[in-house]
Amino acid sequence: MALLEINQLNRRFGGLQAISEVSFAVEPGIIKAVIGPNGAGKTTLFNLIAGSLPPSSGTIRFRNEVISGLQPFQIARRGISRTYQNIKLYPGMTALENVMIGRHIQSRTGFIAGMLHLPWTRREEAQVREHCLGLLEMLEIADLAEVEATSLAFGQQRAVELARALAMEPQLLLLDEPAAGLNIYETAEVGRLISKINSQGITVLLVEHDMSLVMDISHEIVVLSFGRKIAEDLPLQIQQNPEVIKIYLGEEEKEDAQG
Ligand SMILES: Nc1ncnc2c1ncn2[C@@H]1O[C@H](COP(=O)(O)OP(=O)(O)OP(=O)(O)O)[C@@H](O)[C@H]1O
Ligand SMILES: [Mg+2]
Repeated sequence: MALLEINQLNRRFGGLQAISEVSFAVEPGIIKAVIGPNGAGKTTLFNLIAGSLPPSSGTIRFRNEVISGLQPFQIARRGISRTYQNIKLYPGMTALENVMIGRHIQSRTGFIAGMLHLPWTRREEAQVREHCLGLLEMLEIADLAEVEATSLAFGQQRAVELARALAMEPQLLLLDEPAAGLNIYETAEVGRLISKINSQGITVLLVEHDMSLVMDISHEIVVLSFGRKIAEDLPLQIQQNPEVIKIYLGEEEKEDAQG
C-alpha cells in the first residue's frame, strides 16, 4: 500500500492553474523526487500536502486516510514534516533550541504553548533535549548544538533544519530544495544526510533543481511542467525521456539568452 496517494489534485490561484490533475503515489521507504522548471507548481504541491493550502479539488491520502482539508498541525501530527525552500531558523536561538521547537508540536503542552515558552515539565524537557541531541548527532552536527543557529554555515543550517523536521518523528519528510544556495561540497553532504535519513526508514519526497543530487539519491522521479505531471519514472528513464529533455533544454536556452 502506498504511504501517500495523490489523486487528480487541482489548485488554482485566480486564473492560474498552479496544479492541474496531478496524480501519483509514494511507496513507503523510498526517496521520490519532484522536478520541473521554476513555477511548475512544486512548492504549491508541498503546500497542498502539508495543509498550508487547501486544494481546489482532488484528494490526498496518507496511510489510507484522506488528509486534504486538515489543518497543517493535524497533518504534522499524522507524520508528515517539511523543510522550506528558504531556510527558516529562529535567530537568537541555538541549533539545539531550533530543533527542540520542532518537537513542541508533539509534546503534551503543544506547539503554541511551546512558542510562548510555557514550560514543559522538567522531565519532559530533559527527554526532549536528549532526543533532539540524538538527532543532531545523527546529522553529524552534535558539536554545534550550543551555537546560534543563524551564525552557522549554510550547509550546517540545512542540517539543523533537517533535524528540526525529524524532531516530530515523521514517516514522510517533504524537502523543498534542500541544496538551494549550497556549494557542490555542501550539496553532496546534504545528499548523503538525506540518504542516511532515508536508510532509517523515513520516506522522502524531494523537490530539487540540482540534477546530480536528484539522480544520485532518488529512486523515482515525478516531472511537473506548468502544473501538470508530464512524466513519472525511474531516474535513468527520466534522463532519456524526450519530453523531459525538451523542457530542460528550453530552460538552458533561456539561461543562455539571459547570459
Ligand atoms: N500564494 C500564491 N498566490 C498566487 N500565485 C501563486 C501562489 N503560490 C504560487 N503561485 C504561482 O503558482 C505557480 C507555481 O508556483 P510554485 O511556487 O509552486 O512553483 P515551483 O515549481 O515551486 O517553482 P520554483 O522552482 O521557482 O520554486 C507560479 O506561477 C506562482 O507564481
Ligand atoms: Mg518552489
